[in-house]
Amino acid sequence: MPIKPYVVGNWKMNTTYTSAVSLAQGIVNQSSTSWEEAEVVVCPPFTALKGVSNVLHFDRAPLKLGAQNLSAFEPGAYTGEISAEMLTDLDCAYVIVGHSERRAMGETNSDVAAKAQAAQRAGLTPIICCGEDLATYEAGQSESFVVDQVKASLEGVDHTLPFVIAYEPIWAIGTGEVATPDTASRIALSIRTALNDLTGAQRAEEVPLLYGGSVKAGNVGLFLDAPHINGVLVGGAALEVSSFVEIVQTALS
Ligand code: PGA
Repeated sequence: MPIKPYVVGNWKMNTTYTSAVSLAQGIVNQSSTSWEEAEVVVCPPFTALKGVSNVLHFDRAPLKLGAQNLSAFEPGAYTGEISAEMLTDLDCAYVIVGHSERRAMGETNSDVAAKAQAAQRAGLTPIICCGEDLATYEAGQSESFVVDQVKASLEGVDHTLPFVIAYEPIWAIGTGEVATPDTASRIALSIRTALNDLTGAQRAEEVPLLYGGSVKAGNVGLFLDAPHINGVLVGGAALEVSSFVEIVQTALS
């Protein structure tokens, strides 16, 4: 089965409860059943998940809900943490793990792998992020870095359950710089080849590989047309109804 194009909006630490609900409502108002041909996911902050979940539910919207992080632990005495069960209870289907902004705050590959496992145990699909920094890119070591990071972040992850990988070069996130579709496609192929070794060829072909980093309505088509890329993870351009809707429409065209 061919993989549907993925469009995942990562709202990061933006939106209040109130503005998140109106952003979600604005997107839903412009959505149509044709969006079911794609996998469209919005990832608001924890505090807005319930509000956005209500909007999606009420309108039977063709969008799924995701969170931006979760705890690796089972429910218990972990002040301030959010468990996988808390997310599934709000109808989250996805959770982003190992975003570079979290890795920059100290998350290691083994933390990321533990979070991805916790997500899978609860029935969530982890969107596992990877990506190299500018120095690694300039040294021509992107592929080996990313492949090592993916392998380490997948340690203990159940390959038979769903998971998604997002390649986001750090130097392209929020900077307006984008990897060329050729570069993104080349890295995606290296990831697919690594998955081949880990999971076998058939399963490797089923894993959605996303590109992220300054994706906008004007460039999304180039990435989605590039071989080995199945979708996009969008930050800044996911915060405006019109640009997010345009990205989804382009992904469907
Ligand atoms: P950006 O962020 O689209 O604003 O570059 C992407 C991301 O960090 O997921």
